[in-house]
Amino acid sequence: MTLLTAGLVILISYSLYTPLPSEINEPGLARTYIAAFKTANFLAYTVELFTTFHHVNVIRWLVNVVYSPVLTRYSDITVENLNFNGIPVRLYRPSSVTDLTPCIVYFHGGGWILFSVDTYDLLTSELSRSTNTIVIAVDYRKPPEYPYPYPFDDCLRATQHVLQNGQQYLIDVNRVAVAGDGAGGNLAAAVALRLSEEDPTYTPHIKLQVLIQPALQALSFDTPSYRQNAVNTLVGRTQMILFWCHYLDVQPTQGTINSFQSNQHLSPSIKNSIYSLYISELQLPECIKINYIPSSLARHCPDYDKQLAQKLESKVVDPFLSPLMADNLSKLPRAYVLVSEYDVLRDDGLLYASRLRQANVPVVLRYVRDQMQGFMAPAMFSDYFKFTAANVTWYEVYEYINLNL
Ligand SMILES: *[C@@H]1O[C@H](CO)[C@@H](O)[C@H](O)[C@H]1NC(C)=O
Ligand SMILES: *[C@@H]1O[C@H](CO)[C@@H](O)[C@H](O)[C@H]1NC(C)=O
Repeated sequence: MTLLTAGLVILISYSLYTPLPSEINEPGLARTYIAAFKTANFLAYTVELFTTFHHVNVIRWLVNVVYSPVLTRYSDITVENLNFNGIPVRLYRPSSVTDLTPCIVYFHGGGWILFSVDTYDLLTSELSRSTNTIVIAVDYRKPPEYPYPYPFDDCLRATQHVLQNGQQYLIDVNRVAVAGDGAGGNLAAAVALRLSEEDPTYTPHIKLQVLIQPALQALSFDTPSYRQNAVNTLVGRTQMILFWCHYLDVQPTQGTINSFQSNQHLSPSIKNSIYSLYISELQLPECIKINYIPSSLARHCPDYDKQLAQKLESKVVDPFLSPLMADNLSKLPRAYVLVSEYDVLRDDGLLYASRLRQANVPVVLRYVRDQMQGFMAPAMFSDYFKFTAANVTWYEVYEYINLNL
């Protein structure tokens, strides 16, 4: 036991020495999160090596051990666990609500594979309270057990239930937003896209989409932001590839990860197709071109992983999996897109915002300097572990929602 504790201390101290970009805000807190995540990963892979447990299940178990749900500490918010179209959801309603009220359908983050409405309880109750809206948190099924399309389908079905039956919960169905962070941002964008195809005479349209550091494409893991933030951050390139592997239902072997890392997971024909225009760095704003490393996607790469490409090619261009691959965004609802500087996903969000603008969709793009992927998510833990910038930025999000929903 002493040995184990000593080992853990060494492991944690070692993890704490992560070199960070010098400008990163609140480096102590950032290092703590990175150390915790690295330690959890290390333990999970160690357990997987010696037992039959999947490492994802070990991490989930660890999250549940360190985190017991608060189940909303606010007495002025009522909370109900419900079932919408077969999907478990949690509804938050401010007690002041007596009449039809706007609603935010929230999809939590965690790389599609981690967290739940329980872990996000604090964040979603705070969201309901600060915007005085009804919040529906969706407990979608997750990979590796349930890869795409399960999480997307669950989110879609729950949202459709809100639009079709919202009145009975005092929801104003003409004022419904979808929102999410990280993988949840991917799901929110995909649900907004899918519902924009519905005939508005039968189902009201989504009014607003709030995408916080969203993942929006799996065509290239070599965008400038993937290059700049490949290592030394909470979610580096390899970690993001692992998340995508689970969502795409491919076994994340070392060979597969190498193929993704060198952008050899697809054939040159798809890389040179119209889809590559959607992620062209020419669309990136000038202001981010500091420490800029251009992407090499344009370079012809004759070698590729044919087996993997065959499995992936129809998937990565599916717009409900990678919303950046949609060919026409003009019917989408107005959007708030939040990206941060030290985030592999930064360019996914920037590119989406610029394509939405080209399609005449009103967009507010919020670019947060000096922050990493996931900095908004600790709002789910407690005030003590929140980044100051996350608090300030969440207030901006509330304000945007108050003005636009
Ligand atoms: C996109 O769709 C809209 C509405 O359906 C249509 O008016 C527009 O021409 C389309 N744009 C392109 C580039 O196809
Ligand atoms: C978060 O920001 C709001 C608005 O700026 C402020 O009122 C509140 O005290 C802040 N909370 C913390 C924990 O910093």
